Parts: sequence; C-alpha cells; structure tokens
Amino acid sequence: MSIRLGDTVPDFTAQSTMGELNFYNYLGDSWGVLFSHPADYTPVCTTELGRTAQLKEEFAKRNVKAIAVSVDPIDKHSGWINDINETQHTTVDFPIIADADRTVATLYDMIHPNASATATVRSLFIIGLDKKLKLSITYPASTGRNFTEVLRVIDSLQLSAEYSVATPADWQQGDDVIVALNVSTEDAEKKFPKGVRVVKPYLRYTPQPNL
Ligand code: BEZ
Repeated sequence: MSIRLGDTVPDFTAQSTMGELNFYNYLGDSWGVLFSHPADYTPVCTTELGRTAQLKEEFAKRNVKAIAVSVDPIDKHSGWINDINETQHTTVDFPIIADADRTVATLYDMIHPNASATATVRSLFIIGLDKKLKLSITYPASTGRNFTEVLRVIDSLQLSAEYSVATPADWQQGDDVIVALNVSTEDAEKKFPKGVRVVKPYLRYTPQPNL
C-alpha cells in the first residue's frame, strides 16, 4: 500500500554502503530524504546521486539526512560510487541501501509495475522529525529530479512546522509567506511583528518570519 502524507513512515533495517543501517536510528533527530533509483551504473542516476552529494552542506544546514535506495547489491554500489565521485566531482558520503531483495522498495511502493516490473521508479520521500511523511514525489526513469526544488520544499515545510505560515506559488527564500488560514488577522498581527498585509480576508502575507 502506498504511504500517504501524514502517515508514519515504515522503519526498516537493511544493508547499505555504510554497513547495516536501521532507518529510524540513522535519521535520529533529523529530517530525512529517502529516494530511489532505477539502477546502478545508469546516467541519470549518476547525476542525481552526485548532485545530492554536492548539496551536502545545504542538507546539513537544514538538519536533513539523505539516504538512497537501489535494488542492486552492495558490491555494485561501491564500484558505482567511485564513478559518481569521479564524474560528478564530489564525494558521496550518504548511505545507499542495497535493496536486492526489494524489501524497502516494496515497503515504500517504489516499484510501479506498469512502468517497470523490476526497477524502482524515482520516488522521493521527505520525512519530518516526527517520522511522518511530509512530501512524496514520483518521477519516471527518464527525468532526473530537481534537488534545488527539494531544498526549496524542505525550507517551506520547516517554516510551516515552526510558524503558522504557508508558502505561495514559486516561493523562494526571502519572499513573503502566507498567514495560515486558522490564524485570525488579529492574532496574526500579534504573531508576526513585521506586519501583515491583507489582500483578501483569506489571503494575508507577512515577511518570512525566520529572517
Ligand atoms: C538513468 O538513470 O539514466 C536511467 C535508468 C533507468 C532507465 C532509464 C534511465
């Protein structure tokens, strides 16, 4: 069964490029990005894992740990990491799960049989501190994901988790945010001392509160 937003994500223990790994223990008190790839030694996947490694500091700043899943075995992952490091000019230092028996892929519904009977699609799950699913996206094998967008969504999710705000279309760091619907304008004016701009009673903006 698929995992839906707000669900507690399933825990698992699996072999990874960093040894046996228990997912919940690995996450600890961090947010998580769990993402799957169709196969090792494939071009789009190589760029995606490289990009994730290049963004190490951006993930760390946000207290997010990345973890990749591929249905290939551990020895294949290890050789492939050398290629990723070489071609993408980076160092992969997050774990890649070796999910040869498809335990994790099945648990997270990463195999979509009408796309491929055996390979995982490009699933990506963002998991909050409470181990609940905050976002999931599914891309086909032919389209590499936009990891800048993944960071942007994490920024939005973390703002919403901390303040009573949402983010508008195409929001970027530093742009005004939207006051949550369940906050009255009177309360918003107290909560957001930088000011509240009322466009409609249901559409109210305030400067990004954590800047
Ligand atoms: C790729 O990562 O390039 C890829 C993997 C599986 C199918 C198609 C493309």
